[in-house]
Amino acid sequence: MAVGILLVGGFGTRLKPLTDESPKPMLPVAGLPVTEHQILAAKKAGVHTLVLATSYLAEIFTPYFGDGAKWGMKILYAVEKEPLGTGGAIRNAAELLGRDEPVVVFNGDVLSRHSIADQIKFHTDNKADVTLHLIDVEDARAFGCVPTDADGRVTAFLEKMDNPVTNSINAGCYVFSPDVIDKIPLGTVVSVERETFPALVASGRSVFGYKEQSYWLDVGTPAALFKGSRDLVEGDFQAMAGTTIAPDAVITGGTSIGARCTIGAGVHIDDCIIGDDVTIGDGARLSHSFIAHGTAVAAGVQKSAHYLSQKLDLPIIV
Ligand code: GTP
Repeated sequence: MAVGILLVGGFGTRLKPLTDESPKPMLPVAGLPVTEHQILAAKKAGVHTLVLATSYLAEIFTPYFGDGAKWGMKILYAVEKEPLGTGGAIRNAAELLGRDEPVVVFNGDVLSRHSIADQIKFHTDNKADVTLHLIDVEDARAFGCVPTDADGRVTAFLEKMDNPVTNSINAGCYVFSPDVIDKIPLGTVVSVERETFPALVASGRSVFGYKEQSYWLDVGTPAALFKGSRDLVEGDFQAMAGTTIAPDAVITGGTSIGARCTIGAGVHIDDCIIGDDVTIGDGARLSHSFIAHGTAVAAGVQKSAHYLSQKLDLPIIV
């Protein structure tokens, strides 16, 4: 068994304007918030208590996740008045947790199908201080890379470079031994990637890399968010409960439609993410567009690569 922390307090600037009205982790992917996909994965791995480390638009999380009973776990909230960075957020959230179980930390914008349970086992078998999930990418130049020795110990955290020494990168899921989290100063802005991890390696603490090559996607940009949703949708489209679709509507491209939507007659939708409680008027044509929860799209509207909400109608690069 383990406890967990979900880092969901960032501004999500690369996803603007989608993140003007919603925190990035609450954006829907295949009908569910990114965070909910992660909660389901954490539950499967035996995580029984999870702290959501929130800051930007913190108030959006609580009504949705409540006390976590719906997911069979205990969900708590640690709100940072000003974002404390990833390390500061972990320390702040850990104040709500006990100190007798490993702590699994998730970046709130990653969809990963790796075995969290195996990562925890690898961590405990190695009596590690921290174990990071590492994933090999074809081209590591856009990322910092994380070399390991033959035993799987991390030897360095290297910044982006033209000739990376390894293709292994930090996949954004960490297992911490609880006493290590207490080394992060409380109430201070700290980056776990740029400060805590390199300092642990430099001081000889046992930082391990758990390598598992499975589906992994950082949904930090609009193009990646759409890909993440398409990857989860089987077939032309999927719709959540309570949605009605006119028989002559044509929906393609791995579109996902949220709950309680109404899709009108003659509508064409291709490669869109549509939130909950959305109405699409007759004859509308939408492609590569993100339609926020509760939006009413008027009949006949034609939009491509747009973010539509009750308040905003802005282009996005998908
Ligand atoms: P960009 O602004 O587009 O880079 O996105 P971001 O703000 O989400 O930053 P980044 O992708 O680097 O963050 C990785 C994860 O950590 C995301 O899930 C963020 O929500 C989360 N995160 C980043 N900074 C903080 C913080 O200061 N506090 C908390 N609680 N979470 C954070």
